[in-house]
Amino acid sequence: MDSGVGGISVLQKMVKLMPAEDFLFFGDSANAPYGTKTTEEVRELVFRAVAAFLEEGAKAVAIACNTATSAAVRDLRLHYPDLPIVGIEPALKPAVERHPGGRILVMATPMTIREEKFHLLLSRFKDKAKIIPMACPGLMEYVESGQADSDEVEAFLKDLLKEFIIKLDSSQSAKNNISNKKFPCTSLDAVVLGCTHYPFVTHRIRNVLGEDVDILDGSLGTARELKRRLSEAGLLRDEAHPAGQVVFRNSDPSPEKIALSRKLLDYEKL
Ligand code: DGL
Repeated sequence: MDSGVGGISVLQKMVKLMPAEDFLFFGDSANAPYGTKTTEEVRELVFRAVAAFLEEGAKAVAIACNTATSAAVRDLRLHYPDLPIVGIEPALKPAVERHPGGRILVMATPMTIREEKFHLLLSRFKDKAKIIPMACPGLMEYVESGQADSDEVEAFLKDLLKEFIIKLDSSQSAKNNISNKKFPCTSLDAVVLGCTHYPFVTHRIRNVLGEDVDILDGSLGTARELKRRLSEAGLLRDEAHPAGQVVFRNSDPSPEKIALSRKLLDYEKL
């Protein structure tokens, strides 16, 4: 599940890694965004979604939303101790390992940045790199409304990220002998996408910050963790099993949401 269609960036990796499984994806678009709600509101919405999954016979649950994970995963595990439950968190660990001492921007929702879970993560890595957390209210809405690949989102990102864009005039670049550097370019080494909607705007972030910045997200790690948990519990389908199905459900009943969900599952620029 996700607060909307963002979690499909995680579902993509899960389907590739576990093609024999059946997936039921629930997007709570009618209640999105989660990131600007209170923690209690989000926790209640997530519990409701998980109860519905279990009524349908789900054998495991993936919270493919950083915000919902930080609000609810601990309580969910206490409430359903026998159910394999995986969550997602910003991919700070691989970012720091790849860029020790580097400048790393973490983009996420206001709730993810505010929650204790993120502060604990930050305290593990804050001495190993310069980590810059950034709440990005307003960004997920472009993906929800089918505008992930639009000039509007690029303008939004350009403004949001302006302090990290290096702008040099020709005399400065000659003086600093960096005239051969590719532009645009950035003062950052890496960007961690700590919200599952953001991978759908990756190439627009590249247009703003340039090709050299490393962009990471937690989707593959979450998919691998689900596979590991299923296998450990003896619940993973044999690879010889015919390909599974992906079913989309959304609290927003408009057919456009389901059409957008299918489109995002096939989205290749991730
Ligand atoms: N996709 C969600 C996440 O990963 C957040 C979007 C929202 O604010 O609802 O955090």
